[in-house]
Amino acid sequence: MAIQTINTTPIAGQRPGTSGLRKKVGVFQQPNYLENFVQGVFDTLAANEGGLAGQTLVLGGDGRYHNRAAVRTILAMAAANGVGRVLLGRGGILSTPAVSCVIRKHGALGGIILSASHNPGGPDGDFGIKYNMANGGPAPESVTEAIYQRTTTITQYRISDAADIDIDRLGSGQVEQMVVEVIDPVADYAQLMESLFDFDAIRKLFAGGFTMRYDGMSAVGGPYAKAILEGMLGAPAGTVINGEPLEDFGGHHPDPNPVNAAQLIELMARDDAPDFGAASDGDADRNMIVGRKFDVTPSDSLAILAANAQVAPGYRAGLAGIARSMPTSRAPDRVAEALGIPCFETPTGWKYFGSLLDAGQATLCGEESYGTGSNHVREKDGLWAVLFWLNLLAVKGRSVQQIVEEHWQRFGRNYYSRHDYEGIESHAANVLMDDLRIKLANLKGQQLNLYTVDYADDFEYTDPVDGSQATKQGIRIVMTDGSRIVFRLSGTGTEGATLRVYLERYEPDPSLHHSPTQQALAALIAIAESVANITANTGRAAPSVVT
Ligand code: G6P
Ligand code: ZN
Repeated sequence: MAIQTINTTPIAGQRPGTSGLRKKVGVFQQPNYLENFVQGVFDTLAANEGGLAGQTLVLGGDGRYHNRAAVRTILAMAAANGVGRVLLGRGGILSTPAVSCVIRKHGALGGIILSASHNPGGPDGDFGIKYNMANGGPAPESVTEAIYQRTTTITQYRISDAADIDIDRLGSGQVEQMVVEVIDPVADYAQLMESLFDFDAIRKLFAGGFTMRYDGMSAVGGPYAKAILEGMLGAPAGTVINGEPLEDFGGHHPDPNPVNAAQLIELMARDDAPDFGAASDGDADRNMIVGRKFDVTPSDSLAILAANAQVAPGYRAGLAGIARSMPTSRAPDRVAEALGIPCFETPTGWKYFGSLLDAGQATLCGEESYGTGSNHVREKDGLWAVLFWLNLLAVKGRSVQQIVEEHWQRFGRNYYSRHDYEGIESHAANVLMDDLRIKLANLKGQQLNLYTVDYADDFEYTDPVDGSQATKQGIRIVMTDGSRIVFRLSGTGTEGATLRVYLERYEPDPSLHHSPTQQALAALIAIAESVANITANTGRAAPSVVT
Protein backbone atom coordinates (compact mmCIF):
# COMPACT_ATOMS: atom_id res chain seq x y z
CA MET A 1 0.00 0.00 0.00
CA ALA A 2 1.86 3.06 -1.23
CA ILE A 3 1.33 6.40 -2.85
CA GLN A 4 2.68 6.40 -6.39
CA THR A 5 3.78 9.42 -8.36
CA ILE A 6 3.15 8.76 -12.03
CA ASN A 7 4.70 10.77 -14.84
CA THR A 8 2.27 12.13 -17.38
CA THR A 9 2.02 14.74 -20.13
CA PRO A 10 -0.76 17.23 -20.84
CA ILE A 11 -3.69 16.02 -22.95
CA ALA A 12 -5.34 18.68 -25.08
CA GLY A 13 -8.99 19.66 -24.75
CA GLN A 14 -9.66 19.39 -21.01
CA ARG A 15 -11.37 22.75 -20.66
CA PRO A 16 -14.70 22.22 -18.84
CA GLY A 17 -17.80 23.43 -20.73
CA THR A 18 -21.19 24.61 -19.45
CA SER A 19 -21.37 21.79 -16.93
CA GLY A 20 -17.94 20.26 -16.49
CA LEU A 21 -15.77 18.15 -18.75
CA ARG A 22 -17.92 15.98 -21.03
CA LYS A 23 -16.49 13.62 -23.62
CA LYS A 24 -17.14 10.26 -25.17
CA VAL A 25 -16.46 7.35 -22.83
CA GLY A 26 -13.60 6.28 -25.10
CA VAL A 27 -11.87 9.61 -24.54
CA PHE A 28 -12.11 9.17 -20.78
CA GLN A 29 -10.74 5.65 -21.10
CA GLN A 30 -7.50 6.86 -22.65
CA PRO A 31 -4.50 6.36 -20.37
CA ASN A 32 -4.13 9.27 -17.92
CA TYR A 33 -7.12 11.20 -19.29
CA LEU A 34 -9.24 11.13 -16.12
CA GLU A 35 -6.14 11.14 -13.93
CA ASN A 36 -4.76 14.35 -15.47
CA PHE A 37 -8.04 16.16 -15.00
CA VAL A 38 -8.56 14.95 -11.44
CA GLN A 39 -5.00 15.94 -10.52
CA GLY A 40 -5.80 19.35 -12.03
CA VAL A 41 -8.79 19.57 -9.68
CA PHE A 42 -6.77 18.56 -6.61
CA ASP A 43 -3.86 20.88 -7.46
CA THR A 44 -6.26 23.79 -7.94
CA LEU A 45 -8.04 23.01 -4.67
CA ALA A 46 -4.75 22.67 -2.81
CA ALA A 47 -3.61 26.06 -4.13
CA ASN A 48 -6.94 27.82 -3.47
CA GLU A 49 -7.81 26.25 -0.15
CA GLY A 50 -4.39 25.97 1.42
CA GLY A 51 -4.17 22.18 1.29
CA LEU A 52 -6.58 19.29 1.41
CA ALA A 53 -5.68 17.83 4.79
CA GLY A 54 -8.72 17.42 7.02
CA GLN A 55 -11.06 18.43 4.19
CA THR A 56 -14.21 16.53 3.20
CA LEU A 57 -15.23 15.94 -0.40
CA VAL A 58 -18.47 14.40 -1.67
CA LEU A 59 -18.30 11.93 -4.55
CA GLY A 60 -20.96 10.29 -6.67
CA GLY A 61 -22.45 10.06 -10.11
CA ASP A 62 -25.44 9.09 -12.18
CA GLY A 63 -24.37 5.46 -12.53
CA ARG A 64 -23.63 5.59 -16.23
CA TYR A 65 -21.01 3.38 -17.87
CA HIS A 66 -17.49 4.15 -16.48
CA ASN A 67 -18.96 5.56 -13.22
CA ARG A 68 -17.61 2.77 -11.05
CA ALA A 69 -14.16 2.73 -12.65
CA ALA A 70 -13.90 6.49 -12.29
CA VAL A 71 -14.96 6.32 -8.62
CA ARG A 72 -12.15 3.85 -7.93
CA THR A 73 -9.56 6.08 -9.62
CA ILE A 74 -10.76 9.22 -7.87
CA LEU A 75 -10.76 7.57 -4.43
CA ALA A 76 -7.20 6.34 -4.97
CA MET A 77 -6.10 9.79 -6.14
CA ALA A 78 -7.94 11.67 -3.37
CA ALA A 79 -6.18 9.49 -0.78
CA ALA A 80 -2.82 10.12 -2.43
CA ASN A 81 -3.48 13.86 -2.49
CA GLY A 82 -4.15 14.01 1.24
CA VAL A 83 -7.93 14.51 1.27
CA GLY A 84 -9.23 13.92 4.81
CA ARG A 85 -12.58 12.29 4.12
CA VAL A 86 -14.82 11.37 1.21
CA LEU A 87 -18.59 10.97 1.48
CA LEU A 88 -19.42 8.52 -1.30
CA GLY A 89 -22.92 7.58 -2.42
CA ARG A 90 -23.43 3.80 -2.16
CA GLY A 91 -22.46 2.11 -5.41
CA GLY A 92 -20.95 5.40 -6.54
CA ILE A 93 -24.48 6.76 -6.99
CA LEU A 94 -25.63 10.29 -6.17
CA SER A 95 -27.92 12.48 -8.21
CA THR A 96 -26.59 15.94 -8.98
CA PRO A 97 -29.02 17.73 -6.63
CA ALA A 98 -28.23 15.15 -3.94
CA VAL A 99 -24.49 15.94 -4.21
CA SER A 100 -25.34 19.61 -3.74
CA CYS A 101 -27.50 18.76 -0.74
CA VAL A 102 -24.86 16.53 0.88
CA ILE A 103 -22.07 19.11 0.38
CA ARG A 104 -24.15 21.78 2.12
CA LYS A 105 -25.49 19.60 4.89
CA HIS A 106 -22.10 18.17 5.86
CA GLY A 107 -20.08 21.35 5.38
CA ALA A 108 -17.86 19.70 2.77
CA LEU A 109 -15.18 21.59 0.89
CA GLY A 110 -16.89 20.55 -2.33
CA GLY A 111 -17.82 17.57 -4.42
CA ILE A 112 -17.06 15.71 -7.60
CA ILE A 113 -20.02 14.72 -9.76
CA LEU A 114 -19.64 12.04 -12.41
CA SER A 115 -22.26 12.62 -15.04
CA ALA A 116 -22.89 13.78 -18.55
CA SER A 117 -26.39 14.74 -17.45
CA HIS A 118 -28.92 14.14 -20.22
CA ASN A 119 -26.42 12.87 -22.80
CA PRO A 120 -26.71 9.18 -23.73
CA GLY A 121 -24.55 6.69 -21.81
CA GLY A 122 -22.97 3.29 -22.41
CA PRO A 123 -19.60 2.35 -23.90
CA ASP A 124 -20.33 4.50 -26.98
CA GLY A 125 -22.06 7.26 -25.02
CA ASP A 126 -20.78 10.19 -23.01
CA PHE A 127 -19.12 10.51 -19.64
CA GLY A 128 -18.46 13.63 -17.61
CA ILE A 129 -16.93 15.05 -14.46
CA LYS A 130 -17.47 18.34 -12.71
CA TYR A 131 -16.45 20.01 -9.50
CA ASN A 132 -18.89 21.72 -7.13
CA MET A 133 -17.93 24.21 -4.44
CA ALA A 134 -18.72 24.49 -0.73
CA ASN A 135 -22.03 26.24 -1.47
CA GLY A 136 -23.07 23.10 -3.35
CA GLY A 137 -22.99 24.78 -6.75
CA PRO A 138 -20.87 24.26 -9.87
CA ALA A 139 -17.39 25.80 -9.73
CA PRO A 140 -17.28 29.29 -11.24
CA GLU A 141 -15.30 29.92 -14.40
CA SER A 142 -12.30 31.23 -12.44
CA VAL A 143 -11.95 27.77 -10.86
CA THR A 144 -12.73 25.68 -13.94
CA GLU A 145 -10.27 27.78 -15.92
CA ALA A 146 -7.58 27.26 -13.27
CA ILE A 147 -8.23 23.51 -13.44
CA TYR A 148 -7.93 23.62 -17.19
CA GLN A 149 -4.71 25.63 -17.09
CA ARG A 150 -3.27 23.09 -14.67
CA THR A 151 -4.05 20.28 -17.12
CA THR A 152 -2.00 22.07 -19.78
CA THR A 153 1.22 21.96 -17.74
CA ILE A 154 0.77 18.76 -15.74
CA THR A 155 3.78 16.46 -15.43
CA GLN A 156 2.76 14.07 -12.65
CA TYR A 157 -0.22 12.73 -10.76
CA ARG A 158 -0.47 10.96 -7.43
CA ILE A 159 -2.40 7.76 -6.85
CA SER A 160 -2.58 5.14 -4.14
CA ASP A 161 -2.21 1.47 -4.99
CA ALA A 162 -4.15 0.38 -1.88
CA ALA A 163 -6.82 -2.28 -2.37
CA ASP A 164 -10.25 -1.05 -3.40
CA ILE A 165 -12.83 -0.64 -0.66
CA ASP A 166 -16.34 -2.04 -0.98
CA ILE A 167 -18.35 0.85 -2.35
CA ASP A 168 -21.63 -1.07 -2.20
CA ARG A 169 -21.80 -1.42 1.57
CA LEU A 170 -22.84 1.45 3.85
CA GLY A 171 -20.29 2.41 6.48
CA SER A 172 -16.76 3.65 6.96
CA GLY A 173 -13.62 2.43 5.26
CA GLN A 174 -10.16 3.77 4.71
CA VAL A 175 -7.82 4.30 1.77
CA GLU A 176 -4.34 5.24 3.03
CA GLN A 177 -5.09 7.89 5.70
CA MET A 178 -8.35 8.98 4.05
CA VAL A 179 -11.70 7.99 5.53
CA VAL A 180 -14.37 6.92 3.04
CA GLU A 181 -17.92 6.98 4.31
CA VAL A 182 -20.29 5.13 2.04
CA ILE A 183 -23.64 6.89 2.55
CA ASP A 184 -27.24 6.17 1.56
CA PRO A 185 -27.62 8.26 -1.61
CA VAL A 186 -31.23 9.20 -0.83
CA ALA A 187 -31.42 9.85 2.95
CA ASP A 188 -30.13 13.43 3.28
CA TYR A 189 -31.97 14.50 0.16
CA ALA A 190 -35.26 12.97 1.25
CA GLN A 191 -35.02 14.72 4.60
CA LEU A 192 -34.51 18.05 2.86
CA MET A 193 -37.56 17.48 0.64
CA GLU A 194 -39.66 16.63 3.67
CA SER A 195 -38.68 19.94 5.25
CA LEU A 196 -39.81 21.92 2.18
CA PHE A 197 -43.09 20.31 1.13
CA ASP A 198 -46.34 19.31 2.78
CA PHE A 199 -45.82 15.55 2.76
CA ASP A 200 -49.06 14.97 4.73
CA ALA A 201 -51.11 16.72 2.06
CA ILE A 202 -49.39 14.71 -0.69
CA ARG A 203 -49.93 11.46 1.24
CA LYS A 204 -53.64 12.26 1.45
CA LEU A 205 -53.69 13.00 -2.27
CA PHE A 206 -52.32 9.54 -3.10
CA ALA A 207 -54.50 7.89 -0.48
CA GLY A 208 -57.51 9.47 -2.20
CA GLY A 209 -56.75 7.62 -5.45
CA PHE A 210 -54.69 10.24 -7.28
CA THR A 211 -52.59 8.51 -9.92
CA MET A 212 -49.15 9.35 -11.24
CA ARG A 213 -46.34 7.97 -13.40
CA TYR A 214 -42.78 9.08 -12.81
CA ASP A 215 -40.41 8.09 -15.62
CA GLY A 216 -36.93 7.60 -14.18
CA MET A 217 -35.63 7.06 -17.73
CA SER A 218 -33.46 4.18 -16.41
CA ALA A 219 -31.26 6.82 -14.84
CA VAL A 220 -30.38 7.99 -11.35
CA GLY A 221 -33.75 9.62 -10.58
CA GLY A 222 -35.45 6.23 -10.17
CA PRO A 223 -34.14 5.31 -6.72
CA TYR A 224 -34.94 8.78 -5.36
CA ALA A 225 -38.45 8.78 -6.80
CA LYS A 226 -39.13 5.24 -5.55
CA ALA A 227 -37.93 6.01 -2.04
CA ILE A 228 -39.83 9.28 -1.75
CA LEU A 229 -42.98 8.80 -3.85
CA GLU A 230 -43.62 5.10 -3.28
CA GLY A 231 -41.82 4.81 0.05
CA MET A 232 -42.57 7.98 2.01
CA LEU A 233 -45.66 9.33 0.25
CA GLY A 234 -47.60 6.12 -0.25
CA ALA A 235 -47.91 6.23 -4.04
CA PRO A 236 -48.71 2.71 -5.27
CA ALA A 237 -45.86 0.47 -6.44
CA GLY A 238 -45.48 0.94 -10.18
CA THR A 239 -45.89 4.71 -9.95
CA VAL A 240 -42.20 4.95 -10.87
CA ILE A 241 -41.46 3.45 -14.28
CA ASN A 242 -37.97 2.81 -15.73
CA GLY A 243 -36.85 3.19 -12.13
CA GLU A 244 -33.66 1.07 -12.17
CA PRO A 245 -30.52 3.01 -13.12
CA LEU A 246 -28.81 1.25 -16.05
CA GLU A 247 -25.29 1.94 -17.29
CA ASP A 248 -26.59 2.73 -20.77
CA PHE A 249 -29.99 4.10 -19.66
CA GLY A 250 -31.55 1.21 -21.55
CA GLY A 251 -30.24 2.66 -24.79
CA HIS A 252 -32.49 5.69 -24.37
CA HIS A 253 -31.65 9.37 -24.39
CA PRO A 254 -32.18 10.31 -20.75
CA ASP A 255 -33.39 13.82 -21.45
CA PRO A 256 -36.95 14.44 -20.35
CA ASN A 257 -38.75 16.20 -23.15
CA PRO A 258 -41.81 15.08 -25.08
CA VAL A 259 -39.60 13.56 -27.79
CA ASN A 260 -37.31 11.46 -25.61
CA ALA A 261 -39.88 10.53 -22.97
CA ALA A 262 -42.21 9.19 -25.66
CA GLN A 263 -43.42 6.28 -23.50
CA LEU A 264 -44.64 8.65 -20.79
CA ILE A 265 -46.20 11.05 -23.27
CA GLU A 266 -48.03 8.17 -24.95
CA LEU A 267 -49.32 7.03 -21.56
CA MET A 268 -50.47 10.52 -20.62
CA ALA A 269 -52.33 10.89 -23.91
CA ARG A 270 -54.66 7.94 -23.27
CA ASP A 271 -58.24 8.39 -22.12
CA ASP A 272 -57.41 6.47 -18.94
CA ALA A 273 -54.17 8.41 -18.37
CA PRO A 274 -52.96 8.98 -14.83
CA ASP A 275 -53.65 12.38 -13.26
CA PHE A 276 -50.02 13.44 -13.36
CA GLY A 277 -46.83 12.53 -15.21
CA ALA A 278 -43.23 13.54 -14.65
CA ALA A 279 -39.75 12.53 -15.73
CA SER A 280 -36.17 13.36 -14.82
CA ASP A 281 -32.90 13.16 -16.75
CA GLY A 282 -29.65 11.17 -16.44
CA ASP A 283 -28.50 12.85 -13.23
CA ALA A 284 -32.02 13.81 -12.03
CA ASP A 285 -31.59 17.56 -12.08
CA ARG A 286 -33.99 18.15 -14.97
CA ASN A 287 -37.73 17.61 -14.86
CA MET A 288 -40.67 17.42 -17.19
CA ILE A 289 -44.23 17.96 -15.97
CA VAL A 290 -47.18 16.48 -17.87
CA GLY A 291 -50.88 16.55 -17.20
CA ARG A 292 -53.50 14.27 -18.70
CA LYS A 293 -53.25 15.01 -22.44
CA PHE A 294 -51.44 18.19 -21.57
CA ASP A 295 -47.70 19.12 -21.57
CA VAL A 296 -46.43 21.92 -19.34
CA THR A 297 -43.56 24.00 -20.73
CA PRO A 298 -40.66 24.44 -18.31
CA SER A 299 -41.05 28.22 -18.49
CA ASP A 300 -44.71 28.00 -17.49
CA SER A 301 -43.82 25.54 -14.76
CA LEU A 302 -41.43 28.05 -13.16
CA ALA A 303 -43.99 30.83 -13.44
CA ILE A 304 -46.74 28.68 -11.91
CA LEU A 305 -44.60 27.48 -9.00
CA ALA A 306 -43.56 31.08 -8.31
CA ALA A 307 -47.16 32.32 -8.41
CA ASN A 308 -48.23 29.57 -5.98
CA ALA A 309 -45.12 29.24 -3.82
CA GLN A 310 -47.04 29.80 -0.60
CA VAL A 311 -48.62 26.31 -0.86
CA ALA A 312 -45.26 24.80 0.14
CA PRO A 313 -44.15 25.21 3.76
CA GLY A 314 -40.55 25.87 2.65
CA TYR A 315 -41.60 28.94 0.65
CA ARG A 316 -44.43 30.26 2.79
CA ALA A 317 -42.36 33.24 3.85
CA GLY A 318 -42.40 34.50 0.27
CA LEU A 319 -39.86 34.79 -2.52
CA ALA A 320 -36.99 37.25 -2.61
CA GLY A 321 -36.85 37.10 -6.40
CA ILE A 322 -37.07 34.84 -9.43
CA ALA A 323 -34.25 34.16 -11.86
CA ARG A 324 -34.52 32.70 -15.35
CA SER A 325 -32.05 32.17 -18.16
CA MET A 326 -32.34 34.56 -21.07
CA PRO A 327 -33.91 32.12 -23.59
CA THR A 328 -36.52 31.00 -21.02
CA SER A 329 -39.91 32.56 -21.72
CA ARG A 330 -40.91 35.72 -19.96
CA ALA A 331 -43.88 34.12 -18.20
CA PRO A 332 -42.04 34.28 -14.83
CA ASP A 333 -41.40 38.01 -15.33
CA ARG A 334 -45.14 38.67 -15.18
CA VAL A 335 -45.45 36.76 -11.93
CA ALA A 336 -42.51 38.64 -10.42
CA GLU A 337 -44.14 41.90 -11.41
CA ALA A 338 -47.39 40.90 -9.74
CA LEU A 339 -45.52 39.82 -6.60
CA GLY A 340 -43.48 43.03 -6.57
CA ILE A 341 -40.18 41.13 -6.63
CA PRO A 342 -37.28 41.23 -9.12
CA CYS A 343 -36.93 38.79 -12.01
CA PHE A 344 -33.28 38.30 -13.04
CA GLU A 345 -32.33 37.36 -16.59
CA THR A 346 -29.08 35.38 -16.70
CA PRO A 347 -27.09 33.55 -19.38
CA THR A 348 -27.86 29.88 -20.01
CA GLY A 349 -26.30 27.64 -17.37
CA TRP A 350 -27.28 26.98 -13.79
CA LYS A 351 -24.01 28.38 -12.49
CA TYR A 352 -25.23 31.91 -13.18
CA PHE A 353 -27.93 31.54 -10.53
CA GLY A 354 -25.44 30.72 -7.77
CA SER A 355 -24.43 34.24 -6.79
CA LEU A 356 -28.06 35.44 -6.74
CA LEU A 357 -29.05 32.49 -4.53
CA ASP A 358 -26.05 32.93 -2.23
CA ALA A 359 -26.80 36.65 -1.87
CA GLY A 360 -30.44 35.93 -1.05
CA GLN A 361 -31.64 37.91 -4.07
CA ALA A 362 -33.45 35.04 -5.79
CA THR A 363 -35.41 32.14 -4.29
CA LEU A 364 -36.70 30.25 -7.35
CA CYS A 365 -34.82 29.76 -10.62
CA GLY A 366 -35.54 28.02 -13.87
CA GLU A 367 -34.55 27.40 -17.43
CA GLU A 368 -36.35 26.44 -20.60
CA SER A 369 -34.13 23.35 -20.78
CA TYR A 370 -36.34 21.53 -18.25
CA GLY A 371 -34.49 22.86 -15.21
CA THR A 372 -36.21 24.24 -12.12
CA GLY A 373 -34.89 24.78 -8.62
CA SER A 374 -34.52 27.03 -5.62
CA ASN A 375 -32.19 28.17 -2.87
CA HIS A 376 -32.53 24.76 -1.12
CA VAL A 377 -29.46 23.51 -3.06
CA ARG A 378 -27.24 25.04 -5.74
CA GLU A 379 -28.23 22.78 -8.63
CA LYS A 380 -31.48 22.45 -10.48
CA ASP A 381 -33.55 19.69 -8.99
CA GLY A 382 -35.90 17.40 -10.90
CA LEU A 383 -37.70 15.63 -8.08
CA TRP A 384 -37.98 18.88 -6.10
CA ALA A 385 -40.04 20.35 -8.96
CA VAL A 386 -42.22 17.24 -9.10
CA LEU A 387 -42.84 17.37 -5.34
CA PHE A 388 -43.64 21.08 -5.60
CA TRP A 389 -46.24 20.25 -8.27
CA LEU A 390 -47.68 17.44 -6.14
CA ASN A 391 -47.93 19.85 -3.20
CA LEU A 392 -49.71 22.34 -5.48
CA LEU A 393 -52.09 19.71 -6.89
CA ALA A 394 -52.86 18.49 -3.36
CA VAL A 395 -53.68 21.97 -2.08
CA LYS A 396 -55.61 23.18 -5.13
CA GLY A 397 -57.57 20.05 -5.87
CA ARG A 398 -57.45 21.00 -9.57
CA SER A 399 -56.02 19.17 -12.56
CA VAL A 400 -52.67 20.11 -14.12
CA GLN A 401 -54.45 21.55 -17.14
CA GLN A 402 -56.83 23.61 -15.00
CA ILE A 403 -53.96 25.05 -12.98
CA VAL A 404 -52.04 26.04 -16.12
CA GLU A 405 -55.06 27.52 -17.90
CA GLU A 406 -56.09 29.51 -14.85
CA HIS A 407 -52.54 30.84 -14.71
CA TRP A 408 -52.77 31.96 -18.35
CA GLN A 409 -56.10 33.65 -17.68
CA ARG A 410 -54.56 35.67 -14.92
CA PHE A 411 -51.17 36.48 -16.45
CA GLY A 412 -51.59 35.91 -20.19
CA ARG A 413 -49.98 33.06 -22.15
CA ASN A 414 -46.41 33.06 -23.42
CA TYR A 415 -46.55 30.69 -26.38
CA TYR A 416 -43.13 29.09 -26.44
CA SER A 417 -41.15 26.57 -28.46
CA ARG A 418 -37.55 25.53 -29.03
CA HIS A 419 -36.32 24.22 -32.36
CA ASP A 420 -33.08 22.24 -32.26
CA TYR A 421 -30.84 21.49 -35.22
CA GLU A 422 -28.64 18.78 -33.75
CA GLY A 423 -25.31 17.49 -34.96
CA ILE A 424 -24.76 20.11 -37.61
CA GLU A 425 -21.29 20.88 -38.80
CA SER A 426 -19.47 23.22 -36.34
CA HIS A 427 -18.11 25.49 -39.02
CA ALA A 428 -21.55 25.98 -40.59
CA ALA A 429 -23.04 26.75 -37.18
CA ASN A 430 -20.39 29.39 -36.51
CA VAL A 431 -20.91 30.95 -39.92
CA LEU A 432 -24.64 31.21 -39.21
CA MET A 433 -24.04 32.92 -35.87
CA ASP A 434 -21.36 35.25 -37.26
CA ASP A 435 -23.65 36.28 -40.12
CA LEU A 436 -26.41 37.02 -37.64
CA ARG A 437 -24.07 39.14 -35.54
CA ILE A 438 -23.22 41.23 -38.57
CA LYS A 439 -26.92 41.71 -39.35
CA LEU A 440 -27.89 42.76 -35.84
CA ALA A 441 -27.10 46.44 -36.21
CA ASN A 442 -29.47 46.82 -39.13
CA LEU A 443 -32.44 44.95 -37.70
CA LYS A 444 -33.75 47.60 -35.34
CA GLY A 445 -36.97 49.17 -36.63
CA GLN A 446 -37.27 46.71 -39.52
CA GLN A 447 -40.66 45.31 -40.41
CA LEU A 448 -40.44 41.51 -40.53
CA ASN A 449 -43.58 39.63 -41.48
CA LEU A 450 -46.21 40.69 -38.88
CA TYR A 451 -43.65 42.17 -36.55
CA THR A 452 -41.45 45.24 -36.07
CA VAL A 453 -38.04 44.73 -34.49
CA ASP A 454 -37.71 46.66 -31.25
CA TYR A 455 -34.06 45.72 -30.73
CA ALA A 456 -31.61 42.99 -31.62
CA ASP A 457 -28.41 42.16 -29.75
CA ASP A 458 -25.99 39.50 -28.58
CA PHE A 459 -26.90 38.96 -24.92
CA GLU A 460 -24.36 40.19 -22.38
CA TYR A 461 -24.60 39.81 -18.66
CA THR A 462 -23.04 41.50 -15.68
CA ASP A 463 -23.65 39.61 -12.46
CA PRO A 464 -25.35 42.07 -10.09
CA VAL A 465 -23.65 40.48 -7.08
CA ASP A 466 -20.03 39.94 -8.07
CA GLY A 467 -19.77 42.08 -11.21
CA SER A 468 -18.47 39.21 -13.36
CA GLN A 469 -19.32 39.48 -17.02
CA ALA A 470 -20.37 37.12 -19.77
CA THR A 471 -20.62 38.06 -23.43
CA LYS A 472 -21.94 36.40 -26.59
CA GLN A 473 -24.63 34.52 -24.69
CA GLY A 474 -27.19 34.28 -27.48
CA ILE A 475 -28.54 36.45 -30.24
CA ARG A 476 -31.98 37.85 -29.57
CA ILE A 477 -34.35 39.63 -31.87
CA VAL A 478 -37.05 41.27 -29.80
CA MET A 479 -40.22 42.62 -31.41
CA THR A 480 -42.15 45.68 -30.33
CA ASP A 481 -44.93 43.50 -28.83
CA GLY A 482 -42.39 41.59 -26.72
CA SER A 483 -42.28 38.52 -28.99
CA ARG A 484 -38.76 37.15 -29.34
CA ILE A 485 -36.52 34.90 -31.39
CA VAL A 486 -33.28 33.77 -29.75
CA PHE A 487 -30.42 31.91 -31.47
CA ARG A 488 -27.80 30.03 -29.46
CA LEU A 489 -25.33 27.24 -30.01
CA SER A 490 -25.57 24.48 -27.42
CA GLY A 491 -22.74 24.35 -24.91
CA THR A 492 -23.34 20.76 -23.87
CA GLY A 493 -23.02 18.60 -26.98
CA THR A 494 -20.04 16.42 -27.74
CA GLU A 495 -20.49 15.97 -31.49
CA GLY A 496 -20.59 18.78 -34.03
CA ALA A 497 -22.79 21.71 -33.09
CA THR A 498 -26.41 22.12 -32.13
CA LEU A 499 -28.28 25.26 -33.10
CA ARG A 500 -31.13 26.18 -30.80
CA VAL A 501 -33.83 28.58 -31.94
CA TYR A 502 -36.13 29.77 -29.18
CA LEU A 503 -39.46 31.30 -30.13
CA GLU A 504 -41.85 33.21 -27.89
CA ARG A 505 -45.04 35.17 -28.34
CA TYR A 506 -47.15 36.76 -25.63
CA GLU A 507 -50.92 36.49 -25.89
CA PRO A 508 -52.95 38.35 -23.26
CA ASP A 509 -56.40 37.42 -24.62
CA PRO A 510 -57.75 34.20 -22.96
CA SER A 511 -59.97 33.49 -25.97
CA LEU A 512 -56.75 33.04 -27.99
CA HIS A 513 -54.98 30.71 -25.56
CA HIS A 514 -55.90 27.46 -27.26
CA SER A 515 -54.05 27.47 -30.57
CA PRO A 516 -51.51 24.73 -31.31
CA THR A 517 -48.13 26.20 -30.29
CA GLN A 518 -46.38 25.84 -33.66
CA GLN A 519 -49.30 27.51 -35.35
CA ALA A 520 -49.32 30.38 -32.88
CA LEU A 521 -45.61 30.88 -33.56
CA ALA A 522 -45.71 30.39 -37.34
CA ALA A 523 -44.86 33.98 -38.26
CA LEU A 524 -41.87 34.01 -35.90
CA ILE A 525 -40.67 30.63 -37.23
CA ALA A 526 -40.73 32.06 -40.76
CA ILE A 527 -38.76 35.13 -39.64
CA ALA A 528 -36.15 32.96 -37.92
CA GLU A 529 -35.61 31.02 -41.15
CA SER A 530 -35.33 34.10 -43.33
CA VAL A 531 -33.09 36.12 -41.00
CA ALA A 532 -30.67 33.28 -40.24
CA ASN A 533 -30.88 31.33 -43.52
CA ILE A 534 -31.06 28.20 -41.44
CA THR A 535 -31.74 25.80 -44.30
CA ALA A 536 -28.97 27.17 -46.48
CA ASN A 537 -26.46 27.36 -43.66
CA THR A 538 -27.14 24.01 -42.02
CA GLY A 539 -28.40 21.94 -44.92
CA ARG A 540 -31.44 21.06 -42.81
CA ALA A 541 -34.94 21.83 -43.99
CA ALA A 542 -36.43 21.24 -40.55
CA PRO A 543 -35.31 21.04 -36.92
CA SER A 544 -34.41 17.59 -35.55
CA VAL A 545 -36.25 18.21 -32.28
CA VAL A 546 -39.13 20.53 -31.54
CA THR A 547 -40.16 21.02 -27.93
C1 G6P B 1 -26.98 22.13 -18.76
C2 G6P B 1 -26.97 23.18 -17.72
C3 G6P B 1 -28.20 24.02 -17.82
C4 G6P B 1 -28.32 24.60 -19.18
C5 G6P B 1 -28.19 23.56 -20.24
C6 G6P B 1 -28.03 24.22 -21.57
O1 G6P B 1 -28.05 21.27 -18.55
O2 G6P B 1 -26.91 22.60 -16.44
O3 G6P B 1 -28.17 25.00 -16.84
O4 G6P B 1 -29.57 25.22 -19.35
O5 G6P B 1 -27.07 22.76 -20.01
O6 G6P B 1 -27.71 23.30 -22.52
P1 G6P B 1 -27.31 23.73 -23.98
O7 G6P B 1 -27.13 22.43 -24.66
O8 G6P B 1 -28.50 24.52 -24.50
O9 G6P B 1 -26.08 24.59 -23.87
ZN1 ZN C 1 -28.91 16.83 -15.86
